[in-house]
Amino acid sequence: MIIALNNKCNFTLEEFIKYQQELNTINDKNTIILCPTSIYLTNFTKGKIKLGAQNVSSNIMGAHTGEVSASQLKSIDVDYCIVGHSERRKEQNETNAEIKEKIMRLLEENITPILCIGETKEEREQNKVNQIINEELKILKDIPNKDNIIIAYEPIWSIGTGLIPTNKEIIEVMNIIKSIYPQNKVLYGGSANEKNIDQLKTIKQIDGYLIGGMSLHPEKLKVFLEKLKN
Ligand code: PGA
Repeated sequence: MIIALNNKCNFTLEEFIKYQQELNTINDKNTIILCPTSIYLTNFTKGKIKLGAQNVSSNIMGAHTGEVSASQLKSIDVDYCIVGHSERRKEQNETNAEIKEKIMRLLEENITPILCIGETKEEREQNKVNQIINEELKILKDIPNKDNIIIAYEPIWSIGTGLIPTNKEIIEVMNIIKSIYPQNKVLYGGSANEKNIDQLKTIKQIDGYLIGGMSLHPEKLKVFLEKLKN
C-alpha cells in the first residue's frame, strides 16, 4: 500500500527535525511518502521513507518569482508530488487546466504526481459526485504514460473534519475511478486515522491513503500502520 503523509503548512524547522527522527523509527513494509512543507524538503534525510512535495510550478525553471519547478524538485531527489489538492484549488484558485500543466511538468522529470480529486458537501447532496469525479479525471485524458499517476479520492467535506463517507460511498467512487483508469493506484484521503482504519481497510479497492492531520503524530501513525497489517 501507499501511505502519503501531507504535512501541509505545519512545523517549525526544529519541530520538523524532531518529527522526522520519530518518523524514521517506523518499520513498515508499505511505501511511505513524506510530503513536508517545501522549505524542509532539503532537511529530509532519505531512508526508507520516500520524499514528496506538496506543490510544483506549472512553468519550467525561469522567471517565476516564488515558484519551484519540477526540475528543481528532481534535483533535490523528490520522487512524488501532490497536485490539485482542494486547499490549493480553493485558496490559490487552481484550475483543472493548471493542474494538468503541473502534471505534465512532473512527468517530464519522472516525478510521480498524486492527483487529488473529490466533491464538496453540496455536490454530494445534489447527487453530483459522479459528474465531479468524471470532470476532474478529464485532466488525465490526453496525458501520455499516465499509468504511474496516483489518484487520491478526497471528499472535500471529509478533509480535516473527522467525518468520512460510508464504505459504500467510497466504493462507488473507487469503482468510477478504476473503471476509467484501471491501471492507476487510487488512494483514499480525508480524516483517515487510527480509529477509522478498521472500517476503511475492509475496502479492497483502496490502494493506500493520503493522510493530513494524523501525519503530524507519528505515534498515531504507528497504530494506524499496525492495524492496517492485521
Ligand atoms: P486530513 O487531510 O487527513 O487531515 O483530513 C487529508 C488531506 O488533506 O490530504
